[in-house]
Amino acid sequence: MNAQEIRNQYLKFFKERGHAVVPRALLVPQDDPSTLFTGSGMQPLIPYLLGQAHPKGVRIADSQTCLRAQDIEEVGDNRHTTFFEMLGNWSLGDYFKKEQLPWFFEFLTETVGLDANKLFVTCFIGDEASGIPKDTEGAEIWSELFKSKGVEPNIVEIGSEEEGYKKGMQGGRIFFYDSSKNWWSRSGKPENMPIGEPGGGDSEVFYEFDFIEHDKKWGENCHVNCDCGRYMEIGNSVFMEYIKTEKGFEKLPKQNVDFGGGMERIAAAKLNTPDIFKISVLRPIIEALEKLSGKSYESHTESMRVIADHLRAAVFLAVDGVVPSNTAQGYVMRRLMRRAIRFAFDLGAEQDLCEQIAPVVCELYKNDYPEVAESENRVLDVLKREEQLFRRTLHSGLRELNKLSKQSKNLTGEDIFTLHDTHGFPYELSLEEAYSQNIAIAENWREDFDKLMNEQRERSRTAAAGTFKGGLADHSDIVVKYHTATHLMYRALKNILGDHVVQRGSNITAERLRFDFSHDEKMTPEQIKAVEDMVNEQIEKDWPVSWREENTKEALESGVAGAFGDRYGEQVKVYTVGDPEGDNYSREICGGPHVDHTGQLGEDGKRFKILKEESSSAGVRRIKAVLV
Ligand code: ALA
Repeated sequence: MNAQEIRNQYLKFFKERGHAVVPRALLVPQDDPSTLFTGSGMQPLIPYLLGQAHPKGVRIADSQTCLRAQDIEEVGDNRHTTFFEMLGNWSLGDYFKKEQLPWFFEFLTETVGLDANKLFVTCFIGDEASGIPKDTEGAEIWSELFKSKGVEPNIVEIGSEEEGYKKGMQGGRIFFYDSSKNWWSRSGKPENMPIGEPGGGDSEVFYEFDFIEHDKKWGENCHVNCDCGRYMEIGNSVFMEYIKTEKGFEKLPKQNVDFGGGMERIAAAKLNTPDIFKISVLRPIIEALEKLSGKSYESHTESMRVIADHLRAAVFLAVDGVVPSNTAQGYVMRRLMRRAIRFAFDLGAEQDLCEQIAPVVCELYKNDYPEVAESENRVLDVLKREEQLFRRTLHSGLRELNKLSKQSKNLTGEDIFTLHDTHGFPYELSLEEAYSQNIAIAENWREDFDKLMNEQRERSRTAAAGTFKGGLADHSDIVVKYHTATHLMYRALKNILGDHVVQRGSNITAERLRFDFSHDEKMTPEQIKAVEDMVNEQIEKDWPVSWREENTKEALESGVAGAFGDRYGEQVKVYTVGDPEGDNYSREICGGPHVDHTGQLGEDGKRFKILKEESSSAGVRRIKAVLV
């Protein structure tokens, strides 16, 4: 059973057990500005875990594409990747431990066919300070499950990770660990959780590679949570039944299960290999790299792993509508791609890397993710363009760095800025190059680098005709009217389709407005009409339009719409249609300019009309509209 089959069998398994299988959420979270990327399966489900009713019911399953950019430096060893798929199943106040643990065990041992002798599990030891009891029920369930396979279910109390290195395995099968290992919330341990955050004790399953000898550099004795690689975590059942409140931990209205399993890791366990890059969604990329470079994976292991991981991530980012840029998600994508292209140098692959590798990635996912097939051409264009852009300056940038290493000079903030500005090196890439070439880095590099970056930003802002024009072609009367119409329409879309509607792009010319927003389905003719009517109604109402400076955090918290998440400064300009303090229709963070009164949009008897509503990328719709 290969990785794709494991994913599909998992979804089938849970479908047969009454779960609604839902499509993956985009890699860029839609309504959650707290993170740049979807990093776990539960993230898009937070509102439902907190008690909101899920439209598909109380049993949900999916395979969620995730990106963890913080792992970028670790890629190159046998198990870290930035992009991965998390298999997930959720009980939203429905089943609990006695269903969840046996199901996952059955899936692993019967469906995938893993040997129960190679599986080890952990449970939560409890936390006196927070009044959360020990999970004896979980341990008892595991005991019975192992017994049913003829495996001795010895239970060992460990406690902390440190104690794990002291106590070792002791012939155990089921281990109790404390909240550093067996508690799950998005913020980790109970004491680190903010008020309002859900969490709970969890139970993890590990697979043993018995041919790996423990390495004492990690600690005296090996234990399941040791980092030597002998034990690999393959799945985690979180019993999400608590919420942190002002008064301490309270039970959530319902007991939930939040399960996350590493699809790639289960596939590696199935092959009994600790090398994740040997599984069926990564190996073909490595083979393509071997073919194009004439080098072997054995001799160029690290470079090939980095390229395979980074380009796979970049492909999915492009599928989900991200384009390389110098900010936010676009910056991470740029960094992944430029790092991959840099590593390809080590393989002697100095051109057309994306053209050759991206189609291999698409091929691996096309059947299971139709959006990959649909966007393949666009994805290839985006990736090829970025590669061309970087290749033009890559050589000269590397030469510049070589010069510095020969001069045995420190790498300064100014050097790093030049490498960024002239040669397109993300600053992290310059730092990595410096480390690998033994070039010392000036202590205050960051300060100087930031100063130069800020000066440059200021320059480009003033260069844009004195003001920052946003997505406007110019500041002619008609463009300004379309800009205000965009605000009226954005609010109407939220009112009619729901609050999941978030601006994803806007482009305005004298001929029309164009607006991209997150929404999964084609709008119905009735919805389109309702939006048009609502906008025309606001034009008739002749609301005043005004702006004032507000504190960004307070503005966002009070529900003011903003398209750029955390990329605003401390103070922002907020435009209000209506009275900012009283009756108003919409409030948005925006640079302007706008008309003074919405009635101006209806001059000469003009009405607002939507010409086209179409898909722009996965989960993103595009509207073109005019005043006629
Ligand atoms: N939310 C849990 C995790 O990410 C399942 O490990």
